[in-house]
Amino acid sequence: MGRKRAKDVIVNDVKFSGIADRGKAVGRDAEGKVYFVDGAVPGDTADILRMRKRKGVYQGKVVKVTDPSPHRIEPFCEHFGMCGGCKWQHLNYETQLSEKQRVVADAMRRIGGIDTDVNAILGSEKETFYRNKVEYSFSTKRWLTDEEIKSDKTITQQPAVGFHSPGAFDRVVDIDKCYLQHDVSNEIRNHLREASIEHGWEFYDARTHQGFLRNIYLRNNRKGQWMLTVCFNHKKDNLHIVVMENLIAKFPQISSMHYVINQKVNDSISDQEAIHYWGDTHLEESLDHVAFDIGPKSFFQTNTYQAEVMYQQVVRMANLSADDNVYDLYTGIGSIGLYLAKNAGHIVGIEAIPEAIEDAKINMTKNGITNCTFYAGDVKEILSSAFWEKHGRPDVLITDPPRAGMHANVVDMLLTLESPRIVYVSCNPATQARDLKLLAEKYDVKELQPIDMFPHTHHIENIALLKLK
Ligand SMILES: C[S@@+](CC[C@H](N)C(=O)[O-])C[C@H]1O[C@@H](n2cnc3c(N)ncnc32)[C@H](O)[C@@H]1O
Repeated sequence: MGRKRAKDVIVNDVKFSGIADRGKAVGRDAEGKVYFVDGAVPGDTADILRMRKRKGVYQGKVVKVTDPSPHRIEPFCEHFGMCGGCKWQHLNYETQLSEKQRVVADAMRRIGGIDTDVNAILGSEKETFYRNKVEYSFSTKRWLTDEEIKSDKTITQQPAVGFHSPGAFDRVVDIDKCYLQHDVSNEIRNHLREASIEHGWEFYDARTHQGFLRNIYLRNNRKGQWMLTVCFNHKKDNLHIVVMENLIAKFPQISSMHYVINQKVNDSISDQEAIHYWGDTHLEESLDHVAFDIGPKSFFQTNTYQAEVMYQQVVRMANLSADDNVYDLYTGIGSIGLYLAKNAGHIVGIEAIPEAIEDAKINMTKNGITNCTFYAGDVKEILSSAFWEKHGRPDVLITDPPRAGMHANVVDMLLTLESPRIVYVSCNPATQARDLKLLAEKYDVKELQPIDMFPHTHHIENIALLKLK
């Protein structure tokens, strides 16, 4: 027997005051009951559809805004509301920033027990077209709007290329114009959709695992060059070559082309081989004084402009002396380490993806840097006592883990290492606050600096400066 679904009910006059986890608005009804709701902004009063509870809190969806917030603005994108991408377009940028600042302060206080003042968040100069990497998915099933579903019209399902709607692994919102990446990205995606339909190149069906075209990754640099990585389900009749040749012939901006034959159930390519097909193997981008060659699978900060702002803050907080020994944990393609190298004695970088470490070494040579050593592997395994006996105790330790934060064993190792200064860069203030609480045994938090890398989304980057007590 299936689980019983809570009955959906309409709740009137819910007043919204802030933003919660995952960017939903937080509201209360007349009885003080709390709701986390999509489609509302702080300051709104709205009637909502109450949905099931998640983690003890009712979730909901706006039915009608009865008294709009002064912070509410008109969303600029035609796909707003369906595509999960830029959920905060209906909130002015100033309020987005103040909400992000508050989320950092709340996480630090509630989770970390930290009451250090939070510096003013550094906003992004570019509020649209700020990403240098986007992934589009192909699907045989286009995401249908509520209106389409309710209408009497017979809808012939059409293939789609765009973004998965939140929670729908097999359905894709067909995107015509996206404001995240330079317009060439829109041209390439729309051309590929039309060409695929015209030539009968099959779109992938994530339920049956049939079809041909799965996803495409587009990466661009500020010089206007593009690296494409096309993911196919198979390479029967060398059709994958036909697709790539079609794109190369149509778009002179493409400087590098890779492909992946992914026959797994999921779309992730981190464990798949990206095969170089044409042009350059890497895409070059510079952050201030350092040039980086970026491979198709390597992590690179996705908002290039704000990455420079962020790294400048890391330099300021690290406050390096010429002979300082620096550890750069979760280094990616060596980005922060190489950026800091001219101010330090020696840098040791650690990163899980071996291809990224290969890129880090290439980038070291490319920039004429000689004072860095890079290791591929899990920080948890590599950062042993034997490792720090070999490399010496760091004077400054930089850590930039993924959203999950640092493994408890890594935090323990940091407590043993006793680096006088830690600069902790995080894309998730909640896990950062959790780790800072553990580090509080030996460290004081001296500074907290949020940065907005992703306008119109709830994502926040925060840098914490820690000093040994
Ligand atoms: C947020 S990125 C930071 C990359 C780099 N610091 C930068 O600014 O571009 C996190 C990096 O950690 C790597 N990573 C994730 N888990 C890891 C682990 N357990 N050990 C080592 N590296 C890991 C990811 O591959 C990714 O490159």
